[in-house]
Amino acid sequence: MKINRREFLHTAAGLGIASLVPGCGGNQSGQTSQTVQTSQIASSTVIPSRLIPRTNESLPVVGFGSTKAVRRIPDVGPDEMRSVIQALLDNGGKVIDTSFRVEEIDRPFGQILQDEKWSDKLFVATKINAPGKQVGIRQMQQTERLFNRRPADLIQVESMIDADIHLDSLREWKANGGTRYIGITTAHSSDQGRMETYMKNVPLDFIQVNYSIPEFEAEQRVLPAAKDLGIAVLINSPFNGGEWFTLTRGKKLPGWAAEIECTNWAQIGLKYILANQAVTCVLTETTNPKHLIENMHSSFGKMPDDELLRRMKSDVLSII
Ligand SMILES: NC(=O)c1ccc[n+]([C@@H]2O[C@H](COP(=O)([O-])OP(=O)(O)OC[C@H]3O[C@@H](n4cnc5c(N)ncnc54)[C@H](OP(=O)(O)O)[C@@H]3O)[C@@H](O)[C@H]2O)c1
Repeated sequence: MKINRREFLHTAAGLGIASLVPGCGGNQSGQTSQTVQTSQIASSTVIPSRLIPRTNESLPVVGFGSTKAVRRIPDVGPDEMRSVIQALLDNGGKVIDTSFRVEEIDRPFGQILQDEKWSDKLFVATKINAPGKQVGIRQMQQTERLFNRRPADLIQVESMIDADIHLDSLREWKANGGTRYIGITTAHSSDQGRMETYMKNVPLDFIQVNYSIPEFEAEQRVLPAAKDLGIAVLINSPFNGGEWFTLTRGKKLPGWAAEIECTNWAQIGLKYILANQAVTCVLTETTNPKHLIENMHSSFGKMPDDELLRRMKSDVLSII
């Protein structure tokens, strides 16, 4: 079921939680009654999905980039991560992106992922992130053991490290039932030429690439190539690792924000990304369930057309 923002607000008003919706006058600090509020939103809304071109499996258009939250597990315990995953699922999301980490981190994270409440509802994208064939294979084995997921949903070669070698292993792993999809990632615009070469020469299911108004390069070659070649696209760094909020802090929203139902800068950044139809899912990183809900709800309502996208880019680049 898809519902738009207006329908969501109608339901939310019935539940007495409309003030929690970004732009509806709620307290944006997220400090009080977060768990209750999150679960109340749960039953009432589902964000839109897009299809993975190779299989037509659908993925919700906003996912959870887990790097910051995963790294904090040893210090803050599992509850923070659990509350973000709960918010993701409650709002119709399922995609979690992570990478290989030391066992001290990935063991407790794997225990959270294995919770029977949600383990079969998640789409978990993992990575190989070090050079060397045997190292890569050991990383996939460890992730499979600690996350208890076979097949994996998606394994990516992070930053295309030793990609020729790892992609051979990944193809074999996939053929043997170890993963459903394979892909490569980069978070640097300067690496996108190399990414395009792999896209054209290796059968990839997914790419993951940085894309945002300040880092718009992907829209020039990589995203059109993904559309032509039928490759699904995950977007990383939508907020430039948080820099977006520093650059836009205190800046007045441009007049056109209201035209696309944006009441904050997070929505503006995400609507620009989601307007590109080559994008399958944008990964937003957060430790705060309320931020994730705000990000997920950017997928509702009016999206910018080509003319407005041009204005958004030129206006935003001139003020940040
Ligand atoms: N080479 C690679 O494969 C690669 C490289 C980089 C990233 N990635 C993936 O992409 C994901 C996201 O990219 P990123 O690391 O550049 O992070 P990002 O999503 O661009 O920015 C994250 C920062 O934005 C803040 N934030 C998120 N939503 C917000 C909101 N609505 N309002 C205010 N602040 C908000 C978060 O703080 P709070 O915790 O306070 O919300 C966090 O500090 C990563 O987690 C990872 O999965 C992959």
